[in-house]
Amino acid sequence: MSPLFLPLFLLSLLTPSYSISPPSFPLSTNSRWIVDSTGQRVKLACVNWAAHLEPVAAEGLSKQPVDYVAKMVADLGFNCVRFTWAVQMVTNASVGSITLRQSLEQLGLNESVAGVGVNNPQLLDLSLVQVFQEVVSALARQNLMVILDNQLSKPGWCCSRYDGDGFFGDKYFDIEEWLTGLKFMATMFNSTPNVVGMSLRNELRGPNQNLTLWYRYMQEGAELLHSTNPSLLVILSGLNYDKDLSFLLLKQPTLTFTNKLVYELHWYGFSDGGDWENGNPNNVCASVVKSTLLRGGFLLQQGWPLFLSEFGFDQSGTHLADNRYLTCFLSVAAEWDLDWALWALQGSYYLREGQVAYDESYGLLTWDWCKARNPSFVKRISALQSPLQGPGLSNKKPYNLIFHPLTGLCILMDSPSKPLKLGSCADSRAWNYTSDGKLMVKGTGYCLQSVSVGKNAKIGTNCSKPNSKWEFVANSSMHISSRLHNNGTAVCLDVDSDGTILTNGCKCLTENGTCSPESQWFKIIVSSRDFTRGDSNLELPLVESWLSKFLPVGKWRGHHYVEWKKGHRI
Ligand SMILES: *[C@@H]1O[C@H](CO)[C@@H](O)[C@H](O)[C@H]1NC(C)=O
Ligand SMILES: *[C@@H]1O[C@H](CO)[C@@H](O)[C@H](O)[C@H]1NC(C)=O
Ligand SMILES: *[C@@H]1O[C@H](CO)[C@@H](O)[C@H](O)[C@H]1NC(C)=O
Ligand SMILES: *[C@@H]1O[C@H](CO)[C@@H](O)[C@H](O)[C@H]1NC(C)=O
Ligand SMILES: *[C@@H]1O[C@H](CO)[C@@H](O)[C@H](O)[C@H]1NC(C)=O
Ligand SMILES: *[C@@H]1O[C@H](CO)[C@@H](O)[C@H](O)[C@H]1NC(C)=O
Ligand SMILES: *[C@@H]1O[C@H](CO)[C@@H](O)[C@H](O)[C@H]1NC(C)=O
Ligand SMILES: *[C@@H]1O[C@H](CO)[C@@H](O)[C@H](O)[C@H]1NC(C)=O
Repeated sequence: MSPLFLPLFLLSLLTPSYSISPPSFPLSTNSRWIVDSTGQRVKLACVNWAAHLEPVAAEGLSKQPVDYVAKMVADLGFNCVRFTWAVQMVTNASVGSITLRQSLEQLGLNESVAGVGVNNPQLLDLSLVQVFQEVVSALARQNLMVILDNQLSKPGWCCSRYDGDGFFGDKYFDIEEWLTGLKFMATMFNSTPNVVGMSLRNELRGPNQNLTLWYRYMQEGAELLHSTNPSLLVILSGLNYDKDLSFLLLKQPTLTFTNKLVYELHWYGFSDGGDWENGNPNNVCASVVKSTLLRGGFLLQQGWPLFLSEFGFDQSGTHLADNRYLTCFLSVAAEWDLDWALWALQGSYYLREGQVAYDESYGLLTWDWCKARNPSFVKRISALQSPLQGPGLSNKKPYNLIFHPLTGLCILMDSPSKPLKLGSCADSRAWNYTSDGKLMVKGTGYCLQSVSVGKNAKIGTNCSKPNSKWEFVANSSMHISSRLHNNGTAVCLDVDSDGTILTNGCKCLTENGTCSPESQWFKIIVSSRDFTRGDSNLELPLVESWLSKFLPVGKWRGHHYVEWKKGHRI
């Protein structure tokens, strides 16, 4: 939580987490949505759990019982785990066939051996492959879905440009061995319904990346998974550390199956090309969102599911740039109603990059794995753990939410005479943002109105006055602004320290340096938003009309193509 905004009132808003009944498996896709076997949307709200480092075991087994960890994942509102693995676990007997005890001992991790002995004694003398299966079973007992993510070939911390494990044919990335590994995993979990999908390979990268080979081997791997275990979603990662799927705009892979392909994209504040430290957050967010759209967001508009399978931030809440990035990210995750996976569950590692008992500042859990590191983040993400749109939710009439990404809450109207407050989006009365710029309480004649600078916004009935007309301003389009009725001054919706909605002067519209507009950032979530697939896989006019909201049409394609060529050396 940003220190810019005092979240005291949040403490009283402990909403029960989204209750999860397991979807009916297998999953498949319908346009941009992942759906269950009844056709109802399943939103992936996952957390990454690493099992690909040198010990070749799920992290944390020395800290807490595996069932405790699985239950905590479910209790924190997640419905799925992206569970990472290294190819050699299943292709190299001297890696995967040794026991957890042997693996930890040979790395000198005797304290971890003792910890596993206390917390998970039943796992200590199982082989590493069996331990992996046991973790999947523990997740199943909590109705958690699992996505197997092939993080790398040689166990270790991932990922660097020159680690020899970044692209097909690199020193440690043998293609046949990789295919063997995929087949082994897909077979091993053939009758495990909660294993719903497999990511073929995480974060392709490095000096040897090559688009021709991407299509060749991704197609080969995808077909192999399909023929080995037809109930899996097949998940493909892009180039440049999975920051780039832009090449799919020009060409989709050729596959023999349909309705199972999902793309994954990664987005971190430290690598999104925005100057979160020194830039005006309205401008930085606008430019980063634009680039995310070009890097892969366009796939949603084309009717492909896009799984934002890694995002994350310093959970201590003290990293200013990360805090700004996160608020921007959450606004997009809400607006696009993304499937996502937080990096990462682990509060600590047995061993990472040579350091024993490494503390993971991006960890959802604390170092000792006993609780959430940042409880206010857990509340903040909860609105995004359930689907906002998609097939099977159509019994609800379309409506708008006014989402506040800094808190993860929505503007609630209790009664027209009471001050408007932030509260759980699940409790939100429906709003209607009309084409003439009014924010109507749906199905009533009531509308939102500004009163004065520093005064609470109110609900009124004469909605033809200028103070009832709201527009989106700033380059981020996340400030909701109206003009005061007495003198026409522009004000923006804002939030008081107790969660009351008021209007203030608009922040950071033009400042060239840093300033902090986030308390005034809102997104109107449009439940009736139409992401249906175009007729072909390459509907440029459609893409352009969507992109034109962000960029002047005509400019982006040329500019983008140049970037893309440079990026990929082709
Ligand atoms: C198998 O793993 C061992 C232990 O890490 C390693 O020394 C060996 O080179 C690996 N074999 C192959 C074929 O990768
Ligand atoms: C770790 O445990 C093994 C097996 O019990 C033992 O042989 C070894 O000396 C221990 N190493 C350290 C550094 O304590
Ligand atoms: C990419 O791989 C293809 C097929 O092996 C090869 O013909 C082509 O030269 C490679 N491109 C680059 C830039 O290395
Ligand atoms: C919103 O209001 C407009 C007219 O003001 C109406 O046509 C539209 O149906 C309403 N939308 C919803 C979802 O109620
Ligand atoms: C407009 O009125 C508000 C109070 O209603 C006041 O704070 C603001 O300074 C006024 N602006 C101008 C330009 O007079
Ligand atoms: C609504 O406001 C407008 C503009 O201030 C005014 O002309 C009109 O008389 C008002 N209507 C009612 C019913 O009060
Ligand atoms: C907003 O974006 C426009 C166009 O991208 C840019 O020229 C302008 O400088 C940005 N606004 C600010 C205040 O930087
Ligand atoms: C920001 O704007 C101020 C005044 O408008 C100007 O003095 C300053 O040089 C600008 N800074 C940058 C980095 O452009």
